[in-house]
Amino acid sequence: MADAPALDFQAIPHPAPVPGETRRQAIADPGFGTVFTDHMVVLDYDEAKGGWHSARLGPREAIALDPAAAVLHYAQEIFEGLKAYRHDDGSLALFRPEQNARRFNASARRMAMPELPEELFIESIRQLMAVDRDWMPDAEGGSLYLRPFMFASEAFLGVRPAKQYKFVLICSPVGAYFKGGAKAVKIWVSSDYVRAAPGGTGAAKTGGNYAASLVPQAQGIANGCDQVVFLDAVEKKWIEELGGMNLFFVMDDGSVVTPPLTGTILPGITRDSLIHLLREEGLDVREEPYSIDQWESDATSGRLVETLACGTAAVVTPVGRVVGEDRDFTIGSGSAGQITTKLRERLVGIQRGTVADPADWVMRL
Ligand code: PLP
Ligand code: COI
Repeated sequence: MADAPALDFQAIPHPAPVPGETRRQAIADPGFGTVFTDHMVVLDYDEAKGGWHSARLGPREAIALDPAAAVLHYAQEIFEGLKAYRHDDGSLALFRPEQNARRFNASARRMAMPELPEELFIESIRQLMAVDRDWMPDAEGGSLYLRPFMFASEAFLGVRPAKQYKFVLICSPVGAYFKGGAKAVKIWVSSDYVRAAPGGTGAAKTGGNYAASLVPQAQGIANGCDQVVFLDAVEKKWIEELGGMNLFFVMDDGSVVTPPLTGTILPGITRDSLIHLLREEGLDVREEPYSIDQWESDATSGRLVETLACGTAAVVTPVGRVVGEDRDFTIGSGSAGQITTKLRERLVGIQRGTVADPADWVMRL
């Protein structure tokens, strides 16, 4: 990790925050990622000025960019996603935010970008939450989705790592990611497209991975599905992950399989947390390759009883049905299974402070 320079955050007053009544209407049923709070945090990086500088908390506003800014041409960009939850005593809490800070820096290294000291990542969140906490939706399952991101702002057209960047943190009040809430989703198996190849950027949270997922995702939607499952790029056989979620497979003997972190999938923080919770309950969790054909035959024979998708946005979501060019199978009864439901309740309980937090995952703000 880079040394942490102590940076003072300059507070820029907001001339016209959204009025209370308008805000309350906007957060009554916010959906996912379309409503935004009043403020944002911005930090600048300039190699010639010694690194990160000019931290400020100000009104959320458009960002002026030179048309030659490197991000617009060569996609040097990374982001994170985490949520703030309101606990019963009114305080705000984050779930394992240091893991997001760490993964942000892992993504930065892969994309030849400067690391951001973990303290600055967390302090940015504290600063933004201090002014925008009233944007928390009241409805059950609501939270404040935090989106930190960094991009190359230097103006030049040569292909090399930029020397200037911006780190920005914005916040969106959100409800459920899927319209059906925690209902089982239908997954499309992409056979035409892959998301990431060995040696590529699959383990980094960088915009290009998501751009590459849009066409297969559209195919999935055209086929009546909610999400796409990607297979490995080499053999087109091994299950990797969904466009924005990791996967777990629950067998009838109570054991659980999840694809291993071989560099082509995102190391999900929810994934890591679920492995921990399942093992704590005495279940055998194996991080090992699982093939699409095995998935189909295990679902059909009944050896596989549940499949769940997990991520910050989707929390824990059951997968009910899997459809592809030449396959269509149902998992269990096609709706949420016992282990999926229990895991979701436990995880959500820890995040929201209603269930014990033995591993100290929750950070109160
Ligand atoms: N996989 C991808 C491609 C993602 O975008 C995400 C979401 O961040 C995940 C998995 C789940 O990661 P996490 O649990 O850290 O949110
Ligand atoms: C998240 O879960 O935070 C994600 O990034 C998933 C999606 C919104 C891309």
